[in-house]
This record gives sequence, structure tokens and C-alpha cells, in this order.
Amino acid sequence: YVTIQENTLGFCRVEGSVDSNHGGFTGAGFANANNASGAGVDWSINAPASGVYQLEWRFANGASDRPGTLKINGANVTTVGFPSTGAWNSWTTVNTMLSLSAGRNSIRLEATTSAGLANIDWLAITGASAPQAADCG
Ligand code: GCU
Ligand code: CA
Ligand code: CA
Repeated sequence: YVTIQENTLGFCRVEGSVDSNHGGFTGAGFANANNASGAGVDWSINAPASGVYQLEWRFANGASDRPGTLKINGANVTTVGFPSTGAWNSWTTVNTMLSLSAGRNSIRLEATTSAGLANIDWLAITGASAPQAADCG
């Protein structure tokens, strides 16, 4: 599997900021999307083979549930719930399984409500064929 931290290969952008003002994160901080519907975070990964992969996010949410639409290569795939963790320095994970095509895949998590997204510590991708972080293009 590969874990992608903010501001490393495979992390393309956050429509917001990379922050470090709530403890418990790993890496350099976490992605804090703007509190707006449609605000999101983009990643890029390479899948050596088509098939089923697990996407997992570590996140904190000091507010109420902040679902995100998951877009792969621009197409809506599913909606992922990011429930409250009780505080902005309390972190947990959520995951979803999905199919990826072989080669580079763009991954976007986009806020469905005006509250924006949870704060995202990392994205991890697991699959039979060892996915890798990729250039954003
Ligand atoms: C607070 C918190 C941020 C968080 C924001 C939000 O401002 O400090 O880290 O992103 O709330 O509601 O999204
Ligand atoms: Ca925010
Ligand atoms: Ca991080």
C-alpha cells in the first residue's frame, strides 16, 4: 500500500490550506478544505493493474458529519461519510473499496455541504498490485 501525505508526491492540491494547528496528525500536517460546498482535495496515484482497491483516509472532525463525494478520473463514484470524531485533535480512519483502471488515476474528495470536509491527515491506497503515488500531471 501507499500512504500519501500533504505536500508530497501524489498530493495535488487542497482547495483550502495545509494546517498543523491541531495535534495528532502525521507528516507535516493535514489538509483543511475551505468550509464550502464543492471544496475538495485532489490526489494522483498509479495502479499497476485494474481491479479493486481500498482507499482509506485518516481524518479529524470536531463538528458533525461531513460527507464527501469521491470522484475518480472526474466521475462520481460514491459518497464517503466523515462522522464527528468529537474534536479537531481526535483522529480516526474511514475507508471504501472501489475499482480503478490501470495507469494513473485522479482521486478527488469533494464536500457535499457548505461545512466543507473533515481535516484530512492522509490518504492510503491498498490493492493487490501495489499502487504508487503519481505525478499530478
Ligand atoms: C476550525 C478548525 C479547522 C477546521 C474548521 C472547520 O476552524 O480549527 O481546522 O477545518 O474548524 O470547521 O472546517
Ligand atoms: Ca475546514
Ligand atoms: Ca498528514
